[in-house]
Amino acid sequence: MKYAIKGGSIEKLSCDCLIIPIWSKGALSNEAKSLDVATGKAISKLMKSGDFAGKLAQTSLLYDPEGVAAKRILLIGAGERKKFHAHSCAKALKGAAKAVSKLQAARVHFALSDTLPTDRDGVWLATRVAQEMEDACYKYDTTKSKKAKAVAIRAVSISIPGKTTRKQVDAGLATGAAIGKAINRAKQLGNLPGNVCTPTFLANEAQTLATRHKSLSTKVLTEKQMARLGMGSLLSVGAGSDQESKLIIIEHKGAKADSKPYVLVGKGITFDTGGISLKPGSAMDEMKFDMCGAASVVATMGCVAELNLPINVIGMVAAAENMPSGRATKPGDIVTSMSGKTIEILNTDAEGRLVLCDALTYAERFKPRTIIDIATLTGAAVATFGAHANVLLSNNDQLAETLLDCGEESLDRAWQLPLWDEYQSLLNSNFADIANIGGPRAGTITAACFLSRFTEKQKWAHLDIAGSAWHSGAQKGATGRPVGLLMQYLNTQKP
Ligand code: BES
Ligand code: MN
Ligand code: ZN
Repeated sequence: MKYAIKGGSIEKLSCDCLIIPIWSKGALSNEAKSLDVATGKAISKLMKSGDFAGKLAQTSLLYDPEGVAAKRILLIGAGERKKFHAHSCAKALKGAAKAVSKLQAARVHFALSDTLPTDRDGVWLATRVAQEMEDACYKYDTTKSKKAKAVAIRAVSISIPGKTTRKQVDAGLATGAAIGKAINRAKQLGNLPGNVCTPTFLANEAQTLATRHKSLSTKVLTEKQMARLGMGSLLSVGAGSDQESKLIIIEHKGAKADSKPYVLVGKGITFDTGGISLKPGSAMDEMKFDMCGAASVVATMGCVAELNLPINVIGMVAAAENMPSGRATKPGDIVTSMSGKTIEILNTDAEGRLVLCDALTYAERFKPRTIIDIATLTGAAVATFGAHANVLLSNNDQLAETLLDCGEESLDRAWQLPLWDEYQSLLNSNFADIANIGGPRAGTITAACFLSRFTEKQKWAHLDIAGSAWHSGAQKGATGRPVGLLMQYLNTQKP
């Protein structure tokens, strides 16, 4: 899809579908007014009929309207003008993008010249248009014998409110398109089944990414190499699997060699059966999504490279498959992590933290500026927050605040939980330095407490995305979160 800015009188703009937001209360926008006049009041007549009220994200299509060059006009409800803030704007754009993606329209124009949300600027709007368009055009069909019909859209243009320059808006469109594509890459990796998307598959994906971008290089550690490094914790998770565990390291060089890198670490459990502490059968298929943290890291690294961000970033993926077998780790087994700390594995289903802790220790060698891990870590996060929040815990208030702000700005929001010392003693073990579970209470916090034992020297944040990474039910599928949040963060950092 190509993106551009287009000006001039809206009724003369030639395209296959013109998208125009309509308020539910109050006057038409200037562009909508022009279209209404040109079409002999087609819009006001439609609204008078009661068929279309401008309700947020409601759509209605005028085909071959009189007096305008566009072949179709797609009306998109924008709700009340007063309440048109970033969230409602994004919802309207999502509705429009979804509707237009189903049409046989190659050239699409968004008429947004006086439809700025109350709390954002034109650059944000341009970014969002491109991001929502890419997002709406993703469809999973890889493992279906009948392929999805290709989306007809080739070119997307926008008219955008005054104050921003062409250059800024163009940059916004490019950023949004890159983020949208990265979100789709994360969705795709997440949606692939566990028998396709194995640790080796993820490693190959990371290698391929590096061949496509000059700034990227990928290194993959094998089990043998990890054993030499003393990663007894990470290796214990894949012990029962026939799939080899991998530690994947993707490096983006965008700044001078001595500029400290931002490090991302993703949980990449390509299937989580629970191991010997076997999970119940219902919805276990969804544990193919237990690598969505890894997917978000791989996708973010691709996006960072595509946008040529002037910073150094290192993306790591701790990939393993958690299976029961005669060789699997058992409850009560004690392993030694790369840090030297011994861990009593009281529950083999608390495996995410076991792969992450060794990856976090390995990351110390990069002297990170900040380190963020992203993990579908706890069912407790789903129970508490449902689908909407990324759950944030951090040992650094400034980093936490920045990430919360980035979540608000990108609408990929996070909510913070406390990482108080009082919770740490729940991880006491009679037989090792630390236990891998903290009991039934405060599960999201004790999981983060476990990780914090391996990041004491770092500015570190943890994102538990167990609720936000995928949808269950009829719309089952990966969401691509929190790529939006991570990109917002990296895109606003200095070298
Ligand atoms: N991958 C799961 C967390 C999960 C469960 C995410 C359900 C989304 C939906 C993780 O490995 C896990 O099993 N965590 C356990 C930890 C417990 C044994 C301390 C959990 O949350 O039940
Ligand atoms: Mn588990
Ligand atoms: Zn898991």
